[in-house]
Amino acid sequence: MTWHFVDTNGTFRLENADQTSYLYFPLVNEAGMMSAITPTLHGDSKIDQHHFLTLPVSVEDLHNTRSPRDVWFFVEGHGPWSVAGNSARQIADRWTAHADRVTVEAGLLWHKVVRESGRLPLRAEILNFVPAGDDRVELMRVSLTNSGETPMRLTPTGAVPIFGRSADNLRDHRHVTALLHRVVCDRYGVVVRPTMSFDERGHTPNTTTYAVLGVDENGAPPQGFFPRLSDFIGEGGTLDWPQAVVQNLPPTHTVGDTDEGNEAIGALRFAPVVLAPGETRTWVFILAVWDDETTTPQALIERFGRPQLVAECLERTRAYWSARVDALRLHTPEERFNLWVRWVAVQPTLRRLFGNSFLPYHDYGRGGRGWRDLWQDVLTLLLLEGEEVADDLLAHFAGVRLDGSNATIIGHRPGEFKADRNNIPRVWMDHGAWPLLTVRLYIDQSGDLDFLLREQVYFKDAFTHRARRLDETWQPEQGTLQRDAAGNVVRGSVLEHLLVQHLTAWHHVGEHGMILLEGADWNDGLDMARERGESVAFSAMYAWNLRQLAELVDALAARGHTHFDLLEELLPLLQPLDDESPAAKRARLTAYFDRVSRTVSGRKIAVAAEDLAARLRAMSAALAERIRTQEWIADGDGWFNGYYDDHGRRVEGRWPDHVRMTLTGQVFTLMGGVADEAQVDGALASADRYLWDEAVGGYRLNTNFHEVKLDLGRAFGFAFGHKENGAMFSHMAVMFANALYRRRRAAAAWRVLERLYRHAQAFPVSRMYPGIPEYVDPRGRGMYPWLTGSASWYVMTLIQWAYGVRGVWGDLLFDPQLLPEQFDEQGNAEIETRFSQWRLRVRYHNPQRLPPERYRVQSVMLNGKPLSHEQGRISRAILHMLPTEQVHLFDVVLEDVGNTAKMTS
Ligand code: G1P
Repeated sequence: MTWHFVDTNGTFRLENADQTSYLYFPLVNEAGMMSAITPTLHGDSKIDQHHFLTLPVSVEDLHNTRSPRDVWFFVEGHGPWSVAGNSARQIADRWTAHADRVTVEAGLLWHKVVRESGRLPLRAEILNFVPAGDDRVELMRVSLTNSGETPMRLTPTGAVPIFGRSADNLRDHRHVTALLHRVVCDRYGVVVRPTMSFDERGHTPNTTTYAVLGVDENGAPPQGFFPRLSDFIGEGGTLDWPQAVVQNLPPTHTVGDTDEGNEAIGALRFAPVVLAPGETRTWVFILAVWDDETTTPQALIERFGRPQLVAECLERTRAYWSARVDALRLHTPEERFNLWVRWVAVQPTLRRLFGNSFLPYHDYGRGGRGWRDLWQDVLTLLLLEGEEVADDLLAHFAGVRLDGSNATIIGHRPGEFKADRNNIPRVWMDHGAWPLLTVRLYIDQSGDLDFLLREQVYFKDAFTHRARRLDETWQPEQGTLQRDAAGNVVRGSVLEHLLVQHLTAWHHVGEHGMILLEGADWNDGLDMARERGESVAFSAMYAWNLRQLAELVDALAARGHTHFDLLEELLPLLQPLDDESPAAKRARLTAYFDRVSRTVSGRKIAVAAEDLAARLRAMSAALAERIRTQEWIADGDGWFNGYYDDHGRRVEGRWPDHVRMTLTGQVFTLMGGVADEAQVDGALASADRYLWDEAVGGYRLNTNFHEVKLDLGRAFGFAFGHKENGAMFSHMAVMFANALYRRRRAAAAWRVLERLYRHAQAFPVSRMYPGIPEYVDPRGRGMYPWLTGSASWYVMTLIQWAYGVRGVWGDLLFDPQLLPEQFDEQGNAEIETRFSQWRLRVRYHNPQRLPPERYRVQSVMLNGKPLSHEQGRISRAILHMLPTEQVHLFDVVLEDVGNTAKMTS
């Protein structure tokens, strides 16, 4: 039992798909229609938190509710049959000889169910997708075939319950909000336009319409309707045994009829048909949401209401999604892996569109995107879609506050950040560290160092001192731009924004000299050590970043930028400290916070590049050195302590009966070059010993602490092995792989990526469609599929570190760390990818299949002609001569370092 790829685009097929619970597939478009669909056509459709077309569902609702998208057939002489498998009889037939057979076939980004009745010679094919384009619609095409030998007479009834309101109303005023419904039976379907909406914005007139429309294959509309849910199911009935179908009742409403104040359903009765043996009939349904005046049922029917139109739309949708992932193609001997990666590559776009809400496992949040995710998802988009995202990156910097924290309510348009008026916002101590990582990637890919000098505003609301204090003078009417004393909007370079984030962090330390944990770091579950907690893990990342900032300043200086204008207030944070104690750092930082908590002077002071770089290096070195010496746990092979709890106690180490270790503590110390070589090997050995678990697909996030650790975070209230408490959490595992590649431990790094793939694709255990899950639970199930930051890191790590195709200050570098088994029998390994605006096909030749530590780049051929390179680095000037429309073939021959060493010695 597993899915199989059935073409070279990643289309897959899963038989008996209904025999796995919790499976779902995303359907979405840029216009904002978001759907989830299961093998039994469950799931939901919505455009945001306040506009659900169908009943909002969490993962347990997928089996708990009876309201899928459905089309019922009343079969003469037999009774009802549901294409969703939703009739009580079909459910009772499960696990018997009469069970329907259900196969799912899905591709980029469409979903098809084939259901064959276990009692009747009937075969239904149900295709669903959200068409690429501007319409907020989900299309559903249902074809029914008589696979028997006698004609069958059937009455079709489409049935899609319409929720038509905010998800908040599921529990809050569900009944009362149904009273707002105004229903019209249009020629083509049931149209619900509530009078008002009740939500957090108050009682507002509603302007949104929800509809379920349908036509038969010739464009004929339904014959009548049952728009009222209670009529459709009948007194005492249920959605899995609806009276209207079971007793084949005549429709309650006809075109032009209305209904008010009731739960609604898009129940569309079509004319009965007689299906001859072998004959197929098709119906098209449109599930739609629109704003007043933007469209009409008639217009939607004209656009989509024919099988042929649906087919054309499907082609456009496929092309749209393929184009997004075609920029990456692997040619490893394992085709299943090559195609699986296509699904991973689509995940960052899915998260850009869904955010972290709106799929059944992701039943938290109210839409919107997280700050961290904003920066991470761009990593892959940068690699696969090129550098057009630069403007978005710049826009995101508008969320930075002068105290180094950032806005956490992020709007839909780039650069749109909102003030949090209700709550004291939580401050995540790691937030300041991610932008630099993305900016560095961007600069390396594009060579656009000047990006650092582009200007951006700062965010300002009532919160100051990293949300520890309030600026009572601030009023919402002022807007969210930081101003100076004269009332002018303050602007600063990207470099200045990065400095604000890092200089504040460096000073914001706890009693052990590590940066304070505040509301949490990457691990959202470490949220109960707000006073004394410290994150060594992310202190390491900041230390690394400070060094990178120094490199960026040097690079700018080399291009003639000898001075940078910085906010006057920031300068004290650049002065060396006589007293490097945590208290002295904090005191200086508080003075800075006080100065910038309302307005700033607006004066800029020129700082010499040389001095700036030197100071950043010194700050980085001091923090790194402290981590290296103070935080190393010399037990066995040793590892880094990652945290201090709210009692100021070290979190990791040996307890009388167990060991406490986190993966996070190792990842950034390794990645950022804080760990020395011996520490890399030690931490890796300890991770293998305490965290590696083959059964869950790799390294766990932590060992079992055997304690509900209330002085660290809610994560330790979770059962061990779940989510942020010791699951194999893909994001951290993949970042560990990335760190290992950077430290040139290729075998260990590849093992992480390979094992994660192995596990995720092992359907009997992981029970998930192709892609990466957020984490793997103790039984091995892949949890929270589709939306996870790990996908972005996986793609980036694969392209840039395993295949070693990456930018260095805008030049192109080939620096593979592929293992012998990643080459084919002839010793070739091939990847198609993009570098900046160029499309590349890179073929590595390693005829002896040497391991990475034994080879290096010998020669590079471009489209068959030798190319000059410096240790695999190709100057961007050369690339500039290449046209961007075609694919350029690079043949890269790897030579044996051992032999060369001998030859040259
Ligand atoms: C999720 C969040 C991410 C957070 C992580 C750990 O990870 O999206 O921001 O850092 O949990 O708490 P993801 O699902 O992206 O892998």
